[in-house]
Amino acid sequence: MSKGLAIMTSGGDSAGMNPAVKCCVEYARKQGYIPYLVYDGLRGLIDDHIVEATRELTSGILHRGGTVLRSSRSKRFFELQYRQQAYDNLQRRGIGQLIVIGGDGSFNALNQFYNDFQVPFAGIPATIDNDIPGTDYCLGVDTALNMIRQSVDSIRDTATSFSRAFVIEVMGRHCGYLAMVSALSSGAEVCIIPELPYDLDSIGARLIEEKKNGRTYVLAIVAEGTRMSEHFTRWLSDSMQMDARLTVLGHVQRGGSPTVHDRIMAYKFSVAAVDSLRSGNTNAIMTFRDGTFGSVPIETVTSSKYRIDSDLLKLCEPLSR
Ligand code: F6P
Repeated sequence: MSKGLAIMTSGGDSAGMNPAVKCCVEYARKQGYIPYLVYDGLRGLIDDHIVEATRELTSGILHRGGTVLRSSRSKRFFELQYRQQAYDNLQRRGIGQLIVIGGDGSFNALNQFYNDFQVPFAGIPATIDNDIPGTDYCLGVDTALNMIRQSVDSIRDTATSFSRAFVIEVMGRHCGYLAMVSALSSGAEVCIIPELPYDLDSIGARLIEEKKNGRTYVLAIVAEGTRMSEHFTRWLSDSMQMDARLTVLGHVQRGGSPTVHDRIMAYKFSVAAVDSLRSGNTNAIMTFRDGTFGSVPIETVTSSKYRIDSDLLKLCEPLSR
C-alpha cells in the first residue's frame, strides 16, 4: 500500500469541509498513512499546491466555515495533459490515494483521473445543494438550512410590520431541497421548487381566501433553480395587490461556522472514507442512507439522478398550489 494519502476540497465550498479535512488527516495518520493537503482543489492538483500535512496546518480549523484548503472549478482538469501533470505531482511525493471532499462534478473528475492513472479515491459528499445520488445527506446542508432559517425569521419580522409579501430566493442550482426544507421549517405560505409543479391560479385563490381571513403578510420561498423569483415577486404585486419584495439570500448561505450536526457528520464521513481506502475500495462515495453510513461505487453517482424524499415532497405540495 502506498503510504501517501492526499486530501482535497473541490467545487462549491460548504460548512463541514474543515472538520472533515482535520479528521481525515488525523485518522489517516493513525492508520499509518502520510497525509498530504492539496490546496485550491483540482487547480492545485495541477499546479502542485501540495504539502505534507502538519499539526499546525490542521489545528484551529474545526469551527471555521468554508474550506481552509480553498477550492476551485478547473476546466484544465478535463484535458489529459493537465491530468498527467497532476499525476506527476502525486508520484513525486509517493501519494497513491486521494480523498476528495466535494460534489458529484469533483467525483466525476477524479473518476476520469482514476481511469487514466489508477489513483484510487474516496469521495465525501459536501454541497449545500444536497443533490448527490446515493446519500441522504451532504456536508454543509444543516449549516446552510440554519443560516436560511435565521434569515427567514428576520424577514418575517419586517414582513409582519409592513404587511408585505416577501419572496426569498434560496440556493440550489438544480435541486429544491434547501428551499423545500426551509419553507416547511419556517412556515412559509408558498414554496416553488423544480421538483413540484406550481399553480399560480390556485396559489392566488388560496392567498385571497387567507387575506379575507386576516392574513396580512406572505412569505414565499423560491428555489434558485426555478428562475422564478422575479416573476413571482411581480405576480404577487400585480395579481395579489401586495407590496412585494424580493430577497436573494445568495452566498451568505454557503458561509458560517459548521453546526454540531455538520461537525459530527464530517467526522463520521472521514473515518468511513479512510477505512474505505484501507479496505481496498476504489472510487467509492461515502453515503448516509436511512440513518446508516455506507458507500456506493462512483457509477451509482454518475448514472442516477438525486431524488428528494417523497414524504417531504408530499408535505410541500400544498405550498405550491
Ligand atoms: O455549491 C452549490 C452552489 O452554491 C449552488 O447552490 C449555486 O447554484 C452555485 O453553487 C453557485 O456557484 P458559484 O459559487 O460559483 O457562484
